[in-house]
Amino acid sequence: MKRFPLGRFSVARIGFGAMQLPGPGVFGPPRDRDQALAVLRRAVDLGVDHIDTSQYYGPDIANELIRDALHPYPENLALVSKVGARRDESGGWLPYDEPDQLRRAIEDNLRSLGVEQLAAVNLRSMDDATSDERFDDQLTAMIQARDDGLIGGVGLSNVTRERLLRALERTDVACVQNQLNLVDRASIPVLEECTSRGIAFVPFFPLGSAFVRPNPVLDNEQVLNTAERLGVTPVQVALAWTLGLAPNVLLIPGTSSVRHLEENLAVADIELDDQARQHLAAVAG
Ligand SMILES: NC(=O)c1ccc[n+]([C@@H]2O[C@H](COP(=O)([O-])OP(=O)(O)OC[C@H]3O[C@@H](n4cnc5c(N)ncnc54)[C@H](OP(=O)(O)O)[C@@H]3O)[C@@H](O)[C@H]2O)c1
Repeated sequence: MKRFPLGRFSVARIGFGAMQLPGPGVFGPPRDRDQALAVLRRAVDLGVDHIDTSQYYGPDIANELIRDALHPYPENLALVSKVGARRDESGGWLPYDEPDQLRRAIEDNLRSLGVEQLAAVNLRSMDDATSDERFDDQLTAMIQARDDGLIGGVGLSNVTRERLLRALERTDVACVQNQLNLVDRASIPVLEECTSRGIAFVPFFPLGSAFVRPNPVLDNEQVLNTAERLGVTPVQVALAWTLGLAPNVLLIPGTSSVRHLEENLAVADIELDDQARQHLAAVAG
């Protein structure tokens, strides 16, 4: 599988997102713990060396599953997390993005994953209207964590092109993680900026997410038609399209199923033809 740099790591272009491993709503224990552990082990067996997670998946659950399944970790495994949120007692998502909270969240991730350093951590504020001043303070905390050796690289999530450029005036950025899929292409300008600068771009919700029904990507008619014509699944069409956007795209599709994981990783060998690309160009909403 082709690779791309992620901080000091070089990772396969299809990794794994751990968000589907905890219980429904990314809250509480998994429905089937053995299956969750099996997914993680199979992923690494099949060459996955980039796992995206967060302390707030569960909370704690995703990180504990990763540790139970894979610790001691292979040397080449890039563990990437995100900070900026926390969960309340009923699973609600709350901001946790004061500079000292970001630092604490990074330390919590290190503890629960059982590592001394994460490959990268994404700053992911829940507040889309964060002021420049507040963003600067948050970024200072991330840079400090990197300079203290807690994280290998600073990542940014849900970031505009302008914010990315603002951050780049102060620091290298190891990765950007924004929503991007066949029907939501709003982050293409951010992707293009990352491509031109050699920054890894990690699209989240590449399959339209587990939260929206009907699924805007997988139930789309052009996706279904293309899948049928090529003899692959709609999931594989969606992932192959996203992977084909640029060489710096690193996929992290999330699944709680070994069969789905295998289907997703097989996308490394699927290339869409011109007819498919033209057909899918019309999908964007
Ligand atoms: N930075 C952020 O703010 C942010 C936000 C959201 C997510 N993320 C990260 O991005 C990763 C990817 O996003 P995501 O997992 O939420 O959404 P996604 O990849 O768009 O979709 C996940 C959904 O697709 C299903 N699925 C996966 N593979 C499948 C297959 N081969 N066939 C049929 N269904 C399949 C999963 O169900 P099954 O479990 O049944 O396979 C789940 O319902 C997450 O795991 C997380 O690490 C980051």
